[in-house]
Amino acid sequence: MSVNLSSRAKRTKPSATLAIASRAKQMKAEGIDVVDFGLGEPDFETPAHVKEAAIQAIREGFTRYTPASGIDELKEAIITKLKRDNGLSYRLEEVMVSCGSKHSLFNVAEALFESGDEVIVPAPYWVTYTEQIRLVDACPIIVQTSEEEKFHVTRRLVEPAITPRTKAILLNSPCNPTGAVIPHDQLGAIAALAVERDLFLISDEAYESLTYDGRAHVSIASLDEETKRRTILVNTVSKAYAMTGWRIGYAAGPAELIKAMGAIQSQVTSNPTSIAQKAAITALLGPQDHVRAMRAEFDRRRRYLVGRLNTIPDLRCANPEGAFYVFPNVSGFYGRTANGHRIRNSTEMATYLLQTAHVALVPGVEFGSDAHLRLSYAAPMETIVKGVDRIEGALRMLCR
Ligand SMILES: Cc1ncc(COP(=O)(O)O)c(C=O)c1O
Repeated sequence: MSVNLSSRAKRTKPSATLAIASRAKQMKAEGIDVVDFGLGEPDFETPAHVKEAAIQAIREGFTRYTPASGIDELKEAIITKLKRDNGLSYRLEEVMVSCGSKHSLFNVAEALFESGDEVIVPAPYWVTYTEQIRLVDACPIIVQTSEEEKFHVTRRLVEPAITPRTKAILLNSPCNPTGAVIPHDQLGAIAALAVERDLFLISDEAYESLTYDGRAHVSIASLDEETKRRTILVNTVSKAYAMTGWRIGYAAGPAELIKAMGAIQSQVTSNPTSIAQKAAITALLGPQDHVRAMRAEFDRRRRYLVGRLNTIPDLRCANPEGAFYVFPNVSGFYGRTANGHRIRNSTEMATYLLQTAHVALVPGVEFGSDAHLRLSYAAPMETIVKGVDRIEGALRMLCR
């Protein structure tokens, strides 16, 4: 019997990054030495004291349902973190915990958007935003940032995209995939725009702990009370604490919205995993030195990778300001051939590099920019050196 899928299911693309990861995994299982630049997760271990907190929670029998929107103790830890790192004050009813920040973002979409509402999404964007917005029958409105302007989101870019149907502006700083950090003056200008046009701001701050060259992360909600009232801040323990598998993310925002998101979550997943919640408390409140150590190591890799990539003729790689990705422009190679096949776009380039050089990376088209590729440097330095050697060799083999 053929399954008559819903139109929603039919139009939802599976996560491209996860798809590449599973293809690379399959090649590795076949014994092929694949260098994997596809991953969106730190290659570091979850800190030992965080693991220990979860083990202790198991021993103490903290293994049952918790309140659907998370335990108060974790909400308090999040409130402490938001005060400590972001200068923000929230009450318990303004915070909720979900199964990763991807889930937090989906709760926001479910609770806030009506069919036909427009949400402004600056490109290049994280692949999930547009799919989640479409899943709730709303409409992502893409505004294109440019490499020449360091992929910075500006009021000048956003303002012309606003229509009477616009409900929210989605911001992701530092950005996956470009690493761009929105400059302070533009944060202010975008916040003012949101106030003037009565829009919500959704601020995904998953990579806040990874900024480079002396840049500091600023939460847009911390600019002033009027901005805070219309901002839903979303963050996660996944990246800062190397806890991708634990699935703990959180949202902070207007109590009315958080309550609605909590009600939805209670009907969909119930609570995030009890023992992971305990671990997240320790991550947020415990020593933060490993976060700094991880950032220093990522920075070392970033400098190497950007430097090396920019020595490859016809390739251009902007210096990412945050996160753990580089986003080189490879369009200078489009039109060249490999074994008689012409490479015309980022998907064909990624396929070529996987098949020929055994390097896994994500085509930029998935993030809304077909001129680019996304490479994650969440891999040991030796792997990065090997991978970039291979990329260079494969690109040099292309014929004009
Ligand atoms: C920009 C961005 N936001 C959110 C997430 C989701 O992280 P998690 O669901 O693990 O909290 C990711 C993961 O790759 C991301 O890149």
